[in-house]
Amino acid sequence: MNAITEHVSLSSELDLSNYWMPFTANKQFKAAPRLLKGAKGMYYTTMDDRKIIDGCAGLWCVNAGHGREEIIDAVHNQMMEMDYAPSFQMGHPIAFEAASKVAAVMPTGLDKIFFANSGSEAVDTALKIALAYHRARGEGQRTRLIGRERGYSGVGFGGISVGGIPANRKAFSASLIPGVDHLPHTFNLEHAAYSKGQPAWGGHLAEELERIVALHDASNIAAVIVEPVAGSTGVLIPPQGYLQKLREICTKHGILLIFDEVITGFGRVGAATASEYFGVTPDLITMAKAINNAAIPMSAVAASQKIHDTVINSGAANAIELFHGYTYSAHPAAAAACIATQDIYQREGLFSRAAQMAPKFEAAIHKLRGEPFVKDIRNLGLMGAVELEARDGAPGARAYDAFMKCYEKGVMVRFTGDILAFSPPLIVNDAQIEEIFATVKAALHEIK
Ligand SMILES: Cc1ncc(COP(=O)(O)O)c(C=O)c1O
Repeated sequence: MNAITEHVSLSSELDLSNYWMPFTANKQFKAAPRLLKGAKGMYYTTMDDRKIIDGCAGLWCVNAGHGREEIIDAVHNQMMEMDYAPSFQMGHPIAFEAASKVAAVMPTGLDKIFFANSGSEAVDTALKIALAYHRARGEGQRTRLIGRERGYSGVGFGGISVGGIPANRKAFSASLIPGVDHLPHTFNLEHAAYSKGQPAWGGHLAEELERIVALHDASNIAAVIVEPVAGSTGVLIPPQGYLQKLREICTKHGILLIFDEVITGFGRVGAATASEYFGVTPDLITMAKAINNAAIPMSAVAASQKIHDTVINSGAANAIELFHGYTYSAHPAAAAACIATQDIYQREGLFSRAAQMAPKFEAAIHKLRGEPFVKDIRNLGLMGAVELEARDGAPGARAYDAFMKCYEKGVMVRFTGDILAFSPPLIVNDAQIEEIFATVKAALHEIK
């Protein structure tokens, strides 16, 4: 049974009608479902027992590879010991231990960790902390937020407001939070096509922040939020000097800089964080996905001591300082998975392994230059994208076809618009990297 016929037998066994799938073309999917039933190491297993190489670490999240027994055992043991404990006005030891583990790999000074359950929640948490911080220091009029075109910051109202993905905003346009501006995105085919690592062109785009600040006055602006490497929009690598310039301008005007590291956190670019990789320290970092290898939903915000202390010291001794949190913040099972995952990252040196494999990944992905429909290739660490010419009148269709061909041939890739994105688990080896891109090449020769 192949991927095309897989749905025929499945649809007779499985009722697909109740599950409303997220970010999915539901009608298209249910007409020809792609169902996975197992995962181990670098591979998924499909319902018809085919092995599929995971070219995207799930959704940029399974950085240590699938089915890690240390994580499974940690979760199992924790659930046997204590399944749940309230996170408001009560604590449990492994929440604190997980926070220490995460703090240990954050840039120096960003060691106050607030837990949430998804990247979207982490983003909204960071935005709220930024507002609470300014208010606590007597500048409560600093409420404006600045995001970036093509930025993806999740799907909460805060996230889609600062985010810059038109389709994610369109239906909710009237309900976006007010007082938000957007920096221009940094994608430019004319000046930066086929860049390896950081494009030399485009650092000046950070100056646009000065224009927005001049328009509103810095005294009204709370924070700037950007992904250091934009992931979901199709892997846009920051131009040389760009992030440094944003940092400089934010510092000059007392504006907080938030790096959304939901994708880049925990080794993706070959360092613990993109902040560390680029040598630019923001005031707040959002993270999720690989924080616990995606075993149990979990996310977090790392805040600087200054932000934390300002908020914490703003209230009376027995008052709740920040009216924010989630029933499942630092859920015991998620925290256990987090601790076990961070131990794996350290023990196996996976962040430096990603740095080591990055040149091989770069060489392999750039070999696709000149193949049918390819119009740009970009990469950093173990993340990369191949942008295709869109088919006339059918944007996204060509990348979908390429994605389907790859899936039939045993490789899972991501596609967004007409961009194919790659982010394998950090355990990927040379042969698997070659296989991923050889499969993409073959797929490109078979589509129209
Ligand atoms: C940079 C960034 N921020 C936030 C999110 C939202 O994360 P979640 O889907 O866990 O809400 C994502 C998800 O891909 C992301 O890439």
